[in-house]
Amino acid sequence: MRNSIRLSIRPVLYLMLTGLTALLSFSPADSAFVSENMAHANALLKNMLRQASGTTFPKTIDASGKLKSTSMYDWTSGFFAGNLWYAYEASHDETLRQAAIQWTEKLAPVQMFTGNHDLGFMMYCSYGNAYRLTGNPAYKAVLVQSAKSLATRFSSVTGSIKSWDKFVSWHGQPTYTFPVIIDNMMNLELLFFASRATGDLSFRQIAVTHANTVLKNQIRPDFSCYHVVCYDDKTGAVLGRETAQGYADNSTWSRGQAWGIYGFTVMYRETRDPVYLDAARRMADYYLTNKNMPADKIPYWDFNLYQPGFTPGPEAHTAEVTAPLRDASAAAITASALLELGGYLGRAGTTYRLAAVTMLRSLASPDYRANPGENGNFILKHSVGSIPHGFERDVPLVYADYYFLEALLRYAALGKARPGRY
Ligand code: GLY
Repeated sequence: MRNSIRLSIRPVLYLMLTGLTALLSFSPADSAFVSENMAHANALLKNMLRQASGTTFPKTIDASGKLKSTSMYDWTSGFFAGNLWYAYEASHDETLRQAAIQWTEKLAPVQMFTGNHDLGFMMYCSYGNAYRLTGNPAYKAVLVQSAKSLATRFSSVTGSIKSWDKFVSWHGQPTYTFPVIIDNMMNLELLFFASRATGDLSFRQIAVTHANTVLKNQIRPDFSCYHVVCYDDKTGAVLGRETAQGYADNSTWSRGQAWGIYGFTVMYRETRDPVYLDAARRMADYYLTNKNMPADKIPYWDFNLYQPGFTPGPEAHTAEVTAPLRDASAAAITASALLELGGYLGRAGTTYRLAAVTMLRSLASPDYRANPGENGNFILKHSVGSIPHGFERDVPLVYADYYFLEALLRYAALGKARPGRY
């Protein structure tokens, strides 16, 4: 009995102490800054709703500024609904809630999709927020089915969830059949949710095994990361460490590093295993202390692009490197992750949260934030989809907006008790 009381009091004490430390070491959010940005987002999202009526899922714009929408099976399909949920959360605007429901429910067929690893992106950003904000049990069922679909891609031989069914190396040969990309860390949150929702711990075990394999094979000694690790599905051996969207196999693609910081922060939230906290912190340190980081803390699309003395491998995408493009999406993802990560680090967390706020202020400045009537009604300018594939160079991207809004909500929540993901 005494033990059980002690066990139940301990997390409460921990939360009180960490909350107190955060309050002492980080001033409350600038609520005027958050409100102004949320009001701005609200207006743009309403414009986008008119523009996107009758289309598929908004993703970016083409060279003429026209909206480009995408299939529900594209990895980005859930972000527009997520943006609507976040804007609703900030405003309680009924129009946004109705639209969020509509754009979420259009994605229902995706719960059965097993063609790649992106279920977490597609479903947790849409249905995950929908369930968090409405408690609708039908949404919970969709999320659990989505996790089951994702889990079909796990192999106990490789200890990983297969990202794509094949990856054609930029080197020409070979074509790998079990590639795992660092982005996949973002799908694990859905698995933890499913274990909590069902009591079936196998989802959680898959997430832990996958993250441990990433730590072993995908993270370099300096806590930068490889974008793609390719496995032999019969033996689990690593066959190659390459890039798909970065500058070179031996470089660090900025958005990949951002996915790693965010993903290991979630792993720590879900397990409280300090190994993951250490990984998230060191990956963040690589990001924040990088010599090629511009003063506004919005990175170039690859950390090694303009690094004096860096020798890219022979396969590097030098021909595609024409202009020093930034990636606002990487900064938005990282800002959101750092606001959470900082909360787990006591006084040391202040550095990470302050860096996040610097990023948010840069993103909210006229250099990156669009005015109504431009940028196809997306919020942020200057992101990059994939330079090696030759698409989405210096464009708005729906997921940059998603993590920007999430980061604003996390910033607003600092020092306040909030349920769920904050
Ligand atoms: N696959 C997700 C990304 O492009 O970042």
